[in-house]
Amino acid sequence: MSMRIAVLGAGPSGLAMLRAFDSLRRQGHPVPEVVCYEKQADLGGMWNYTWRTGLDAYGEPVHGSMYRYLWSNGPKEALEFADYSFEEHFGRPIGSYPPRAVLRDYIMGRIERNGLRGQIRFNMAVHWVQRDPQTGRFQVTVRDLKADSMVTEQFDHVVVATGHFSTPHAPSFPGLEQFPGRVLHAHDFRDACEFTDKDLLLVGSSYSAEDIGTQCYKYGARTVTFSYRSRPLGYQWPACFEEKPLLLRLDGNTAHFIDGSSKQVDAVVLCTGYRHHFPFLPDELTLRTNNRLYPGQLYKGVAFIDDPGLIYLGMQDQYYTFNMFDAQAWLARDLLLGRTPLPGHAQMQADSLLWQQREQACSSAEQDIDFQAAYVRDLVDATDYPDFGIEAVAEMFKQWKRDKKRDILGYRNQQYRSLLTGNLAPVHHTPWMLALDDSLPAFLGNRPEHLQVPIDQDQAVTA
Ligand SMILES: Cc1cc2nc3c(=O)[nH]c(=O)nc-3n(C[C@H](O)[C@H](O)[C@H](O)COP(=O)(O)OP(=O)(O)OC[C@H]3O[C@@H](n4cnc5c(N)ncnc54)[C@H](O)[C@@H]3O)c2cc1C
Ligand SMILES: NC(=O)c1ccc[n+]([C@@H]2O[C@H](COP(=O)([O-])OP(=O)(O)OC[C@H]3O[C@@H](n4cnc5c(N)ncnc54)[C@H](OP(=O)(O)O)[C@@H]3O)[C@@H](O)[C@H]2O)c1
Repeated sequence: MSMRIAVLGAGPSGLAMLRAFDSLRRQGHPVPEVVCYEKQADLGGMWNYTWRTGLDAYGEPVHGSMYRYLWSNGPKEALEFADYSFEEHFGRPIGSYPPRAVLRDYIMGRIERNGLRGQIRFNMAVHWVQRDPQTGRFQVTVRDLKADSMVTEQFDHVVVATGHFSTPHAPSFPGLEQFPGRVLHAHDFRDACEFTDKDLLLVGSSYSAEDIGTQCYKYGARTVTFSYRSRPLGYQWPACFEEKPLLLRLDGNTAHFIDGSSKQVDAVVLCTGYRHHFPFLPDELTLRTNNRLYPGQLYKGVAFIDDPGLIYLGMQDQYYTFNMFDAQAWLARDLLLGRTPLPGHAQMQADSLLWQQREQACSSAEQDIDFQAAYVRDLVDATDYPDFGIEAVAEMFKQWKRDKKRDILGYRNQQYRSLLTGNLAPVHHTPWMLALDDSLPAFLGNRPEHLQVPIDQDQAVTA
């Protein structure tokens, strides 16, 4: 019987796995049968927008944490697939910070071009994975959502690519039960227009807080207050923004903070991050980690050390995204096929420990970026995934950090150069703060008529 591999999830990581095997097949090598199970009706993972929150149409937890009007929060040139440029997909250079629908289109384009959709079984929610005690193979039990029936199949290897920004980490604060306004976690945030003319409190000081806060301001929130636990975001905010230390309690509409200050607010959004959550795995196969650059228990950040027939993709905290998932998938492929030898248990643990210690020694964002660059370099050097300019991407991330520091509301107007084509992205037709329509046609089309003012009058700048 030929080798069978189950890929769980058809987001960017799971799709990278399909493409990794496809790339080998195109070189004339035999490849195993690959089956990808996806609980949503289409591919794209987090990049699929859904209005739904809570449970989906079949009673499964809604995966999506993305919201309307979401734009890439990093330059697209930093995540470009090494084998598929944005220019190849769109037929021309486009701006550096596309909205969600444009990135989704790009992700789908590589899969359609290579004819890989047929390997994905949609509307299939993975409910349980275990080693069959008799055969030693993996049993994967899936609910066919449309047929409302359970199906079990056997595989030699399993690749977990179910993402880790979907299950909320949602602490509670005294007074939230009695709070008269809306309380939600970022996972359930969908439309900033709900908060027009409102005073908004965001708990947390990372990417979700920053992006939901700036977006609500863009769509008319009256004031935006961030509450931080460790450190403030620290950007130069417009006057209606404020950064407060940790929320202590709420009395009615009044939020009290640990420095003794208080603020009247209409709504609270918990931007307190996500949990790695694998309800379909038994204890002995479960990765337990917080959101960090090098989770323990994994060799090369992918192979589960206690049972390396099980692979995890995309479980790291992320500067690098799509091209890092690709590099991981290429190495996972080679480990599973024995093209790259897997060392013994003790050696894998020692290697993982070294990387974890190296991560712990990082004390700045720049060092974190260099650390992840070194990790991606390690993966790419071990495989035939093309070197897409890993260290040049690290420099892009550092420049991106500086752009944000200089102008948190304008950094998305910057231009970056593709490392694949060498072309500089054009100035987008509309500055981000004025671009209220985030649709693909609006992004690819011309500057709307009512915004026909010269570009240099409205903060477009070049990097
Ligand atoms: C709000 C938000 C904004 C982001 N913005 C950016 C950005 O601007 N740029 C960037 O590069 N990255 C961004 N990210 C990071 C984003 O998570 C990654 O870009 C990418 O989507 C991760 O890919 P993945 O395949 O690992 O996980 P996901 O995209 O989460 O895909 C996982 C897939 O697994 C499926 N799945 C889950 N459980 C099951 C199950 N039991 N059975 C079957 N299928 C299952 C899901 O339906 C989903 O399709 C953002 C994340 C969030 C939450
Ligand atoms: N495209 C976009 O614009 C966009 C938008 C949103 C999110 N994203 C992506 O989504 C991913 C997740 O980002 P995230 O911001 O949701 O999660 P995150 O980066 O893990 O940050 C979690 C935040 O919650 C805080 N927190 C945790 N527990 C807390 C508590 N008990 N009380 C107070 N604060 C608490 C943390 O504070 P400490 O620092 O103290 O731990 C941290 O600030 C990232 O990859 C990001 O890039 C992208």
